[in-house]
Amino acid sequence: MKLIHDVAAMQQTMLQLKREGRRIAFVPTMGFLHEGHASLLREGRKRGDILALSIFVNPAQFGPHEDLERYPRNLDGDCALAEGCGADFVFAPTATGMYPPGFQTTVALGPLTKPLCGASRPGHFNGVAVVVAKLFGIVQPDVALFGRKDYQQLAIIRQMVHDLNLPVEIVGMPIVREPDGLARSSRNSYLTAEQRRQALCLYRAIKQVRELFAQGEQRVDWLLAAARSQIEAVAAATIEYLELRDGVTLQPVDRATNETLLALAVKIGATRLIDNTVLGEAL
Ligand code: PAJ
Repeated sequence: MKLIHDVAAMQQTMLQLKREGRRIAFVPTMGFLHEGHASLLREGRKRGDILALSIFVNPAQFGPHEDLERYPRNLDGDCALAEGCGADFVFAPTATGMYPPGFQTTVALGPLTKPLCGASRPGHFNGVAVVVAKLFGIVQPDVALFGRKDYQQLAIIRQMVHDLNLPVEIVGMPIVREPDGLARSSRNSYLTAEQRRQALCLYRAIKQVRELFAQGEQRVDWLLAAARSQIEAVAAATIEYLELRDGVTLQPVDRATNETLLALAVKIGATRLIDNTVLGEAL
């Protein structure tokens, strides 16, 4: 496995492999890798001759009061995990390599960015879209894998790739959870032991809504009230958003159906956690 920091060197290496006819699978990440990332890497290994991942804590997608500085980092551990998943290349650029002086281009996004995380993190998805577009230009992947843990991000990237005719297949992968149901996240490392237990309220809310829906309940306000009571049972938890929306358009729905997305962002102390489920799909 090769570790490359330089942007031009990475692009040259990838272009050469493509000229040789290799199919490149790519997993963009911000590092501090866990089983969720590993599931993307293993699927990528099956889908490409070459498996590349990027590790870059992208400043452009963090707001001024967010956790950019303290976002967890562990390049050595990440390289070990990536190698264990069969990666051929780790691309770990610097912030100035990606955003040299004079950088000025943005990507204008549409209605998919308005609700949910887009409402609570203004500019976040623009930062994501720019860095993903840049990474696609550098890595030239045939296929790129993203987790459904970041459901809205995946929807926005699919839309961007479609609208801009980018020649890359986007694959969405299921949410990987801890045995007790907590969705894996690099940010789980912020949680104390007590907060780790409190964080289970997100999963409880999801399970509660899925059970009620399976019993025939379709009323949005009832389903959301049931979810809210699971979160509110934990004093340390504050809801940032808790919504049922159409799983494709992310627009509000009148009644819950199999295609409806339940999405939530909850703060446990200072740590913001997100989770989601599509009601008609397996958990
Ligand atoms: P990061 O949070 O590191 O996540 C990288 C990829 O791993 C994303 O596609 C994310 O959805 C996926 N992932 C994270 N936790 C997961 C889990 N529990 N189950 C399944 N997949 C999971 O998302 C980003 O980085 C950045 O925004 C990025 C796309 C790299 C752009 O900077």
